Amino acid sequence: MAGERVTYAAVGCGGMGRRHLRGMAKLYQSSMQNMEMVAVCDPVAASAGRLADEAKDLLGARPRVYSDVETMTREMGGDLRAASVTTDSGTHHSVATKCLELGLHVMCEKPIAVTLRGAALMIDTARRVNRTLSIAENYRRDPINRLARALLTDGAIGTPRLMIETSIGGSNQMFMTPWRYQKRSASMPIDAGVHEADIIRYYMGDVRTVWGESRLHEKIRHNPHGTGPGGFYAMYQNQFPDQIEATGDDALYAMITFQSGAICQWIHDHAGHGRPMHQRVVYGSAGSLVSPGDRNGRPLVLHLDGGVTIENEAILDHAPSYRLNPLAAELWGGERVWTYSFEFNETDARIMALEYHELGTCVLTGAKPEVDGDTARRALALNYAPFEAGRLGRPVTTEEMISGRADPYQREIDVELGLLRPVAV
Ligand SMILES: NC(=O)c1ccc[n+]([C@@H]2O[C@H](COP(=O)([O-])OP(=O)(O)OC[C@H]3O[C@@H](n4cnc5c(N)ncnc54)[C@H](O)[C@@H]3O)[C@@H](O)[C@H]2O)c1
Repeated sequence: MAGERVTYAAVGCGGMGRRHLRGMAKLYQSSMQNMEMVAVCDPVAASAGRLADEAKDLLGARPRVYSDVETMTREMGGDLRAASVTTDSGTHHSVATKCLELGLHVMCEKPIAVTLRGAALMIDTARRVNRTLSIAENYRRDPINRLARALLTDGAIGTPRLMIETSIGGSNQMFMTPWRYQKRSASMPIDAGVHEADIIRYYMGDVRTVWGESRLHEKIRHNPHGTGPGGFYAMYQNQFPDQIEATGDDALYAMITFQSGAICQWIHDHAGHGRPMHQRVVYGSAGSLVSPGDRNGRPLVLHLDGGVTIENEAILDHAPSYRLNPLAAELWGGERVWTYSFEFNETDARIMALEYHELGTCVLTGAKPEVDGDTARRALALNYAPFEAGRLGRPVTTEEMISGRADPYQREIDVELGLLRPVAV
């Protein structure tokens, strides 16, 4: 209905909860606001109170403050329709499932859950209670990734044959939070790697098999006492210990075969010393496409047979189907954007405005989110596949991953979280 706004609560008021608020502020400032923040929830009272104060400054009204979702939904009743879950990754399956059971539509941060059994619980619950479950997978909404996908589907490089996705760096430093180094709350190759898994599928399509290995290289991580992405983690990092013990693997090395027959070589090594390396390139039967990475606005580069290189507006001639949606066109200033130059936080907030607008639309119209539970689960299946393949000593299929038949790495997490009963001996 025109002008109707979906009320929602921010559940999880840490670093990402604060970044999401900036996204909501962008949506409020746009001509398409269809959501309204009415509550915040975090068991850490100081975090919830801080986010409520920031919301008053950025949105003009102070949301109600809660420490648990049951009390929140009971007290707010029909005034609350949705929850945005930005809790740490090891809690998504329990917090998002609880919100769904309480009758709320849910947008949950990536990864959908810490294991594939956790993802199945969320997907099954959303289906049973007939509520929207959307996963906030932001990289694919970057206009540069939209353009890359259009170039690939419009045949700019012919038939895609090989993708190389490489992310190496991190050495022995702690990035953002200690929970990103614990197996039971998703270590970095899952928590950050799942973005790449989603992009790999977004560019290349469905996965058939994965062969790979994972490692825990750096068992001790050192707190850099830095600020983290966008400067949102300084206050937390100062409270964390100087060093932490890591329990989750910090590197994955994979060879992926797609349903199309194409191949991808994927490395996400968060323990790389020396020169960091980030690379994303797709080779096809008529050329190659080099991506600048995510959320930096730099142009894609198209290399065609005959030594032709295109890295300017002319690249749009090779992507006739490329069009941003109306809100993205408003936020980026055009529907066929090929480069942009915002500060990181400005880009980050614009992308989150798109995620929230889509959630509002889904709740109001019953439409399916772009990254629904199953799409997010397939990214997680690709992400864990090298962990499981390495332990099994053979390639694994997507179906084995989703069904739980290939699970030696995740099994221990599932038992610990009560998602799988221990086998009696
Ligand atoms: N898409 C991206 O670019 C991106 C970037 C950073 C983080 N994230 C994701 O956002 C999520 C949060 O990450 P973060 O860096 O903000 O972590 P964080 O540790 O800074 O914040 C998590 C917050 O959740 C709260 N919380 C825990 N259990 C809760 C519960 N039951 N109810 C309400 N609140 C609860 C914690 O108290 C904490 O304040 C993670 O899943 C992470 O993967 C995504």
